[in-house]
Amino acid sequence: MIITNKIKYYFRYIFLISIAVTITQCRKQPAKPTGLVAEKAMVVSARKEASAIGVEILKKGGNAFDAMVGTELALAAAYPFAGNLGGGGFMVYRKGNGDVGALDYREKAPLSAHKDMYLDSLGNVIPGKSTIGATAVGVPGTIAGIFKVHEAFGSLPIKDIIDPVIRLVEQGVVVTERQAARLEHYREQILEVNGDNTLFFNTCSAGDTLKYPALANTLRRIVKNGRDGFYKGETAKILSTFIQDQGGYVTMADLAKYEAKWRQPITFNYKDLRIISMSPPSSGGVTMNQIFKMIEPYEISDFGHNSTETIQLFTEACRRAYADRNFYLGDPDFVDIPLDVLLSNKYLAGRMEDFTFNKATLSSEMERGKIHISESSETTHYSIVDQEGNAVSVTTTLNGAYGSKLYCDELGFFLNNEMDDFSAKPGVPNMFGLIGADANSIAPEKRMLSSMTPTIVEKEGKLWLVVGSPGGSTIITAVAQTILNTYEFDMSMQEAVNAPRFHHQWLPDFIVFEPDGFSTDIKKELKSKGYIINEDRTPILGKVDAIRRLPDGSLEGGADKRGDDTAVGF
Ligand code: GLY
Repeated sequence: MIITNKIKYYFRYIFLISIAVTITQCRKQPAKPTGLVAEKAMVVSARKEASAIGVEILKKGGNAFDAMVGTELALAAAYPFAGNLGGGGFMVYRKGNGDVGALDYREKAPLSAHKDMYLDSLGNVIPGKSTIGATAVGVPGTIAGIFKVHEAFGSLPIKDIIDPVIRLVEQGVVVTERQAARLEHYREQILEVNGDNTLFFNTCSAGDTLKYPALANTLRRIVKNGRDGFYKGETAKILSTFIQDQGGYVTMADLAKYEAKWRQPITFNYKDLRIISMSPPSSGGVTMNQIFKMIEPYEISDFGHNSTETIQLFTEACRRAYADRNFYLGDPDFVDIPLDVLLSNKYLAGRMEDFTFNKATLSSEMERGKIHISESSETTHYSIVDQEGNAVSVTTTLNGAYGSKLYCDELGFFLNNEMDDFSAKPGVPNMFGLIGADANSIAPEKRMLSSMTPTIVEKEGKLWLVVGSPGGSTIITAVAQTILNTYEFDMSMQEAVNAPRFHHQWLPDFIVFEPDGFSTDIKKELKSKGYIINEDRTPILGKVDAIRRLPDGSLEGGADKRGDDTAVGF
């Protein structure tokens, strides 16, 4: 009898262990891909035409860095809403051999800039001066960025990379429904800034083709003269004269002095992942590092995707991380950022000490509580992996939709309004409600703080994800949630990108939810715990373009369903 019981217990034990092992193994199986799968290489960007240019370059033997140059330039025509020659951005890379790095080609304040340049004689912010037209324009960094990348890692001659882009801009790009709607939405403002003689005077409908002959000429000068074909000579003269004639500040000297800069990326571990992301002057990597480290002690996967507990935990980590972001971060060439403290486990554990699932922390009761932030959402991101396993993650922007709306018809591109990402006056919100601190005040040649978060994730020491998003201050939460969706909630890349998102950024002290995917019950429960929910605004949050490397080395694209975003691969 005793022996029979023992045997029974033994078999029960074995049975339970095997169930536990099966469950663990099931969890460890990577989610079945639902996005485009390619054997060797892939580009995912905001437009099919730009992804296809990147892939064309890869197919003719170029690497991910060559493809980056082509994709970046193609977006200026295929996605002028944010793709650019007149803006700037950030790139994070991981080479096939595991080397990582980051490039900052963020715009800079002109030499004549000063702290109070957007204030009137009474010290009040002059509405529109940092957002619309020539006064809003920072010194563009994009062309310096692509040449820096090409010099360091390019494998094809620049002509072989840019020629397909010139063909694209001359043949033109077919306008999509979404693009037609965007152009219509901003048409009045574009005409207000540029008058009636601009390319964008004519209304266009879906199916029309937009051609950019002036941009083709600008690109030819760049092919011929390299970065000097933009920052010096004819282009620089046309550009600086144009901006100054419109009342702006960028001069030939500003253009000649511009340099893109290599930066050390922010790298940190989250469980068995290694996350590599952008360092200051973008806040993306630092803020995401803080968020991940604050949630790491919890088994968030047990709470469930977008459950009340998951939303609470993520929100409270964001509240604390964004409070630090707004106070401490700025251009590292101008301000000392206490990264060793901000990213230390001890400090971050202390930040979460008062967190409880019972009720919301109030942002107004938190330290650093006098400033708040929110930024433009009109940026764009693309992800590339090549056949050698090199990966690049790039986020690039004009800041607002079509930047400052100032379009240089002679050169064929829009100019940024990135100056608005500085805090014009500490404590006063910019056009997106963003309030900054002294660390992000304006100074000549300083770079304005960004939220762009181009990111690469390693799993077990190997390339796993390439990910990023537009969305201003919501970029960081969109990228973090996409990583969590794949890692903690076992989604495919495409599912992780498409999944509904939410956002909290300390101040304003509310959670923003996307329109679908969050039940009334969850919102009710959150409210009962003291969370404020912004019911008036349910915007889309980010537009993530990502790539996941599968165990057999093939690649799954995640092209956000929220836009015209498309993965192309082979
Ligand atoms: N202009 C948006 C950003 O830099 O985050």
